[in-house]
Amino acid sequence: ILYIALALLLAYLLGSIPTALWVGRRFFGLADIREHGSGNAGATNTFRVLGPKAGSSVLLIDALKGFVAAYFLPQWLVAQSAVAPEHELYYRLACGALAVVGHIYPVFAQFRGGKGVATILGMMLGVAPATVGVCMLVFIVMLLLFRYVSLASMTAGVCFALLQLLPQFRPAQPFLVYVGFLLAALLIYTHRANIGRLRSGTESRVPLPWVKK
Ligand code: G3P
Repeated sequence: ILYIALALLLAYLLGSIPTALWVGRRFFGLADIREHGSGNAGATNTFRVLGPKAGSSVLLIDALKGFVAAYFLPQWLVAQSAVAPEHELYYRLACGALAVVGHIYPVFAQFRGGKGVATILGMMLGVAPATVGVCMLVFIVMLLLFRYVSLASMTAGVCFALLQLLPQFRPAQPFLVYVGFLLAALLIYTHRANIGRLRSGTESRVPLPWVKK
């Protein structure tokens, strides 16, 4: 039980690393990214405010947080014989989910973090990689069509949940279906301000070089 508690705590602390905030501060002298752009401490806003290099670094690190928590921590628990191998999936989900919670409510940044997209992506790569590819495709198509990252993120999240219902993707553990819908609901919740802006037509669009403003 001590190992399990330690793994869960580590997952939350890992997710809590406020990448966008620290990258902005350390490499760009920006005191607080949450005072700029959309006010979100995530990869999209880092792209928007600090450019592609900073944005892609934040995306990669935020996704890694979810992946490491969901993939390696449960493996370590099994290796320590703290968890039976047949229960590993539950710990993958629990550790991944705690990293996502840490990312959204980080203890190292006044509990004001990001919206969870990159960390959920990393978590899902560690839990159900087969469906992630399809969701990324959906994300890209939505982004190219509408140029709203928020809309593309939410659609990809809902798509992940729906895919779990299809026989081709249906996971051995039907439990994943519920997790998929919970995560989709969480994404919609964290994007509530974006939904308001989408409805009022004030959400910022991604500038694409071939699209006129
Ligand atoms: O990364 C979260 C994204 O879906 C929306 O971010 O900054 O446009 O609110 P933002």
